[in-house]
Amino acid sequence: MLFGNTGSTLLARAGGPFGMPEQASTLAAPVDAVFNLILWISLFFFVLILGVMVIFILRYRQRHHGEVPEESPSHSNLLEFVWSIIPVILVIVIFTLGFKAFLGQYVMPTDAYEVSVKAQKWSWSFTYPNGYTDSELHVPVNRPVRLVMTSDDVLHAFFVPEFRVKRDIVPGRYTKVWFEATRDGEFPIYCAEYCGTGHSDMLSRVIVHPAGEFEPWLAAAGDVLGTLPPAEAGASLFTSLGCMACHSTDGTRLVGPSLKDFFGSERTLKGGGSATADEDYTRRSLLEPTVEVAEGFEPVMPTFQGRVSDDEIGYIIEYIKSLSE
Ligand code: CUA
Repeated sequence: MLFGNTGSTLLARAGGPFGMPEQASTLAAPVDAVFNLILWISLFFFVLILGVMVIFILRYRQRHHGEVPEESPSHSNLLEFVWSIIPVILVIVIFTLGFKAFLGQYVMPTDAYEVSVKAQKWSWSFTYPNGYTDSELHVPVNRPVRLVMTSDDVLHAFFVPEFRVKRDIVPGRYTKVWFEATRDGEFPIYCAEYCGTGHSDMLSRVIVHPAGEFEPWLAAAGDVLGTLPPAEAGASLFTSLGCMACHSTDGTRLVGPSLKDFFGSERTLKGGGSATADEDYTRRSLLEPTVEVAEGFEPVMPTFQGRVSDDEIGYIIEYIKSLSE
């Protein structure tokens, strides 16, 4: 119901034997191998033990009243040896396969792409290296991804059945999990630790992008500023770049000139000359801040060459314009 508009892609799809979800990560096959081995061993012994039990019930039942049981052997070394050695071998095989699968899950590739995960009642947020945050997890196909996860409130657990990946998320500490998706598509993310009323609604999805499509997606999604009106984007940059430490926007004199009524004004320059504070002057002041310093101020501003793009300079100029009547 929650995912009614996106359809069946968000239900775990059965792909393996016995209704197991399909295998969509490199971790899935080793996990399924151990699971299937234990399942088949259990089935084999279930049938064997029940079968023998039924045969014995029929064969050795009391046929008439007062019948005395046959003499039966009290001890067989061979039998005891066989029923000890076979289970020991089975346990060793299960342990070896299980331990290898466990190591595969817990030893992380060092070159994995890292995404921060925050779980909270009752939603997920995924933060990428460029600072972009999304409520759904986007990853590239065929590339190891490491999740560094923490919680804002209570215990949660990150669970993607198709990846065979499940890990607790604990407030006040970081837990990590990794996977490498082997095919593109969408897979459901569940919370697998009861965390309160909304636990069963704490759903999201992981979107595995085909080769070469993840980076363009991230670049476009991360361009938050491009979605804002230019002056607002500029205001956001003004704060995030720390400009307000030296430049007030209300006329107050700080280390640098106030930017209130700056745009369009005539600037007297230190060492003589003057300049009109237009787009070009603002741009030069950002990139070569010590060349045309306003009279009465020291050339202490750091250059923003390489730290701001042309688009961002445009946004900042629009913001500074908006501070002038
Ligand atoms: Cu979060 Cu259950």
